[in-house]
This record gives sequence, C-alpha cells and structure tokens, in this order.
Amino acid sequence: METKLFRQHGHQFVDWVADYMENVENYPVMSRVKPGEIRAKLPACPPQAPESMDSIFRDFKEIIVPGITHWQHPGWHAYFPANNSPASILAELLTAGIGAQCMVWQTSPAAAELEDVVLEWLRQMLGLPEGFVGVIQDTASTATLCALLCAREWATDFASNEKGLSLPLVAYASQETHSSVEKGVKIAGFGKENLRLIPSDDEFAMIPEKLEEAILRDKEKGLRPACVVATIGTTSSTAVDPLAVIGRICRRQNVWLHVDAAYAGTAAILPEKQWVLEGKEDMDSFVFNPHKWMLTNFDCSAYFVKDAGRLVRTFEIHPEYLKTGVDPLVKNYRDWGIQLGRRFRALKLWFVIRSYGVEGLQAFVREHIRLAQLFKGWVERAGNFELMAPVHFGVVCFRLNDGRDENALTQLNKTLMERLNATGEIFLTHTTLRGKYTLRFVIGQRTTEERHVRHAWDLIASTAEELLRK
Ligand SMILES: Cc1ncc(COP(=O)(O)O)c(C=O)c1O
Repeated sequence: METKLFRQHGHQFVDWVADYMENVENYPVMSRVKPGEIRAKLPACPPQAPESMDSIFRDFKEIIVPGITHWQHPGWHAYFPANNSPASILAELLTAGIGAQCMVWQTSPAAAELEDVVLEWLRQMLGLPEGFVGVIQDTASTATLCALLCAREWATDFASNEKGLSLPLVAYASQETHSSVEKGVKIAGFGKENLRLIPSDDEFAMIPEKLEEAILRDKEKGLRPACVVATIGTTSSTAVDPLAVIGRICRRQNVWLHVDAAYAGTAAILPEKQWVLEGKEDMDSFVFNPHKWMLTNFDCSAYFVKDAGRLVRTFEIHPEYLKTGVDPLVKNYRDWGIQLGRRFRALKLWFVIRSYGVEGLQAFVREHIRLAQLFKGWVERAGNFELMAPVHFGVVCFRLNDGRDENALTQLNKTLMERLNATGEIFLTHTTLRGKYTLRFVIGQRTTEERHVRHAWDLIASTAEELLRK
C-alpha cells in the first residue's frame, strides 16, 4: 500500500473509530450472532490475489462488527470492565506504527526507560512501598505465574530452575481466588493437588487462621509451603483478603506473598481506598491491571516486586545473540518475565496518565464507586431483591428473591439475566456465592453515567416484576 493510500485509509479509520466511540450506545451490548455464523460468512481459503482496503473494510463493517460484543458500551455491566480511552487508542496507533519489538534495551531504549518511569509513577499513585519495582506483563494470569515461579525458585534456593522440583511445594489462596492461580500452579510445577483453597468468611475474604493452620499441617507432612496468593477484589464478589494479617503469617512461616489485585488495584489510587493495601510492606509481589479499570486498552498488566534481583534471577537467560555492550547498565525486560519479544505497552500508559492526570483518574474511579453505592441502595430498598455481598468497589452482587426454594431461585435469576441481556441495552453476568446463583452488576466503563445506571435498574426492576407476575 502506498503512503498516500495509507494516509487516506488512516483518516477514514480514525473517523470510523471516533464515530464508534460516539455511537457505541446504539449497538446491542452483547453480540447477537449464533455460534458459527461469522465463520460461515468468511472464505475457507486465503485470497491468492491482493484485495483492496475498501473491500476489506466493507467486510469488517458488515461481517465482523455484528460479531463484536461491545465492551465500551455504557450498558456494559458484565465480568469486569476492560475500558479504554481516546488517549490510549491513539497511543496504540503510534505503537503499531513504530512496530518496535522491545525485548532488550537497545531494541528501543525509549520503550525500556519509559516503562521504568511509568511503572514508578504507578507505584507512587497506588502507594506501593518504596523500593518496589514494576514491569508490564500482558495479563494478570502471566504476572501470577511469574510470582509462582519466583516463589518456587526462592523456596528452593534457585535450585528448581537447574534440577527440576525435588520436593512438593505448596501454594495457598482463598476459595474465592481467580482460576489463574490454579492454572499457574499447574504450569509452575506445584501441581493442582498442592494448591490449598482456604475457607473464606461471611464477606468472602480469606480466614487467616485457616491459612496458618494449613501451612503448619503441610510443614508437619514434610512439604514446603512456598506461596500465598491473597486477593484484593475477588472475581465473584470483590472481597478483600486481610493483607496485614496474611502478611504477618507469611513472614512468620517464611512463605512468598503474592497479591492479586487485577481489578480492584486501581481503586488504591484513592486515599479513601488505601485501606485495601494495609500490610503492603509484607508483600513480595503485586499485580493489577490498568487494562481493566484504568482506561488503558487491553492488554496491560502492571506487576511489582519487592526484590527485582529475585525476579531476574528466576527468568534471566544470556544467549550470545542477545548480548549487548550496555547490558550491565540497563534493564533488559526480556529477563523480567516469560516472553522474549515484548510490545511497547508503556506508551499507552504514559498517554493515559498524562492526559487524565492522577486527579482525573481518581475522579473517574470515584464516580464508579459512587454509582455502585447508588445501585446498592436501590437493591436494598426494593422488596424482592437481595444484596449478596459487601460493595467495596464498582460491583454489586444481588439476586431476585421472592422466597421460593434455591433451585427455583436459580432458574428465576437465570431467566431474569437472559431477558435483560436479550434487550441489547445492558449486559450482565453471574457467579455463585456459597452455591447461590448471583447476578453481578459491574460499573466500570468510561462512558457509563448515572443515567445509564438508573436506566439499567429500571429495566431490571420492571423485567423482574413481569417475571414475578407470571
Ligand atoms: C482477581 C483476578 N485475577 C486475575 C484475573 C485474570 O486477569 P487477566 O485476564 O489479566 O489474566 C482476573 C480476571 O478477571 C481477576 O478477576
């Protein structure tokens, strides 16, 4: 493609994205296509001859867009958010244009040094302890795997990398922990049988006494407790594990403490939410996702460690073809995680933080938390609804409950959710809490305002009323 044509399509596509941002509310939030529908519209074989950008773009609009679920829709109340922002989108365009692969310092010094600076900004914004150092990973799942690998090496005096595992290592997390922990213990060689799921309390937070009992039991059996994963903002209900007590147990028992704050970590930029990090000095590693709730488009996960030396010792590798003359002077991020090749993700974070400022980001997160409290109040005041968990951040767990038995309540709430999602106006998802089918109402999109939340509640209440009338 000639530059002239590239420029022309570039303008056209930026216009399309700008229109999309303005009109995203007019799409059904969840794509309405059936399984296989998109595939059936696509040719089975690649084109032999080049096709024009006009025809590719036409197919994008006609075939691909109908199969998109619109995460940036103001009626997005499902899972957790993965919000973006104009600044982040523009930075991604520049990143793609530059096309740098940032595996070592010399493959783009600006990428390495900007990552260093921006992660230090994030450390300050969240109030993480001084001395903690950050690195960008693709996702929280990868960061947690890195933590498990570091814990493994640290617990075995860095022998597992050399000889493989000789003694079973044990990991601990609450019953409410994210599935990435199970995936991580499998990959890191702990084995799923050596993941202890510690019971949680009435608010779905880990019970620290049960953690210490489990660690002691394993020590008695001759096993090596190696890693505790505490969660700030669990996936089902955004519960907050008591970090301070868990941290003291980890120090006492000599176990690595990793904190998974994938979603809720962003809230720590608010002084009034700093309590979630009480006990932070005892963390060994910490992850949160700017790609969830900090206006930075997917993917971008910020991973922090207390001791960068242990991280690098776990991952470093020095093949001749990657050696450079400046190695002793710089950070080569290939040694800070699993992958060798790295995208230039720091650029979008830099754009986001500068274009909103810390105050702008705080205002944005604070507003979502306010809206969640508003919604919580409506649930509490409505006769046939039940609040299912404390509301710490932007997620409200609730269900319709008119007193029928548990099985019937599950069916009732499933039907309610399906009807709501079929409207195309909102999209929400479910979980189970102590076996009870629970709806999750998540507020985290950049475009979600109070009027959207009010409309969503009206829709929920009227649909529920219709269901109960039958
Ligand atoms: C608490 C928690 N940890 C980890 C993850 C995994 O995040 P990622 O998709 O970045 O791997 C999630 C995803 O929602 C989560 O809620």
